[in-house]
Amino acid sequence: MNDNRPIIAANWKMYKTPQEGHQFAQELAIKALNLTGVRFILFPSATGLFHILEALKDSSVEFGGQNMHSASEGAFTGETSASMLLACGCRWVIIGHSERRHIFHETDADLCAKIPAALDAGLNVILCIGELLEERQAGSTEEVLRQQLQDDLAGMESFPVERLVIAYEPVWAIGTGVVATPEQAGEAHARVRVILQELFPDLPVERVRILYGGSVKSANAAQLIKIPGIDGFLIGGASLDIDQYVKIAEISQIETKVKL
Ligand code: PGA
Repeated sequence: MNDNRPIIAANWKMYKTPQEGHQFAQELAIKALNLTGVRFILFPSATGLFHILEALKDSSVEFGGQNMHSASEGAFTGETSASMLLACGCRWVIIGHSERRHIFHETDADLCAKIPAALDAGLNVILCIGELLEERQAGSTEEVLRQQLQDDLAGMESFPVERLVIAYEPVWAIGTGVVATPEQAGEAHARVRVILQELFPDLPVERVRILYGGSVKSANAAQLIKIPGIDGFLIGGASLDIDQYVKIAEISQIETKVKL
């Protein structure tokens, strides 16, 4: 069955100790009982995963890792494998977040190896893509999105739409307080769908979930989630505060009902 509920994903980055994450997850598990119209996914740091598993054992709230290595195991100091994430109860992993690309210099070739490794191991993937400010200003947003999708998904003949979600995150909007306008976000999401159809002619692109990320807050969530083709959010800063995060979920639940 298709799960069309908006995905409200929290990318905690390098914030929250395992104990802080545990407390947040326990509170969220209770609040989520009244918010069955959205799908919550938490992405704590790797050290907090086991605590999250414990806090969410009877909850519908899902969780995952912020990154993983493509190899199943090996001499890779500081890295985490898909099987380690799975053993901590993860169902998801974020691949290609802009901070991984730009601060840690992960290449499209690295990401291209990680995606099938994650899917084959049984993890669902959120693949992040998005243009830099100078790329947008140069008018090359579409070209950048095409190149990232083409290179990151190279070698795949198709993909399971329920298990590979795209997050469009314009780099200039991440952590800056500058959010894409609904027009900019809507247009980028539509482009992504067209590009995916070109790359995978048989893919049911209307069923691909595309999240928006970049300075999402409760104050701008309604105008974004209203846009056709925006299927949820990947939230950084505002997801650290449970009230903000839950508010965004409430807004998304209400607005999605109106949209359908
Ligand atoms: P932000 O981060 O919401 O703090 O802009 C989004 C992200 O990095 O996924």
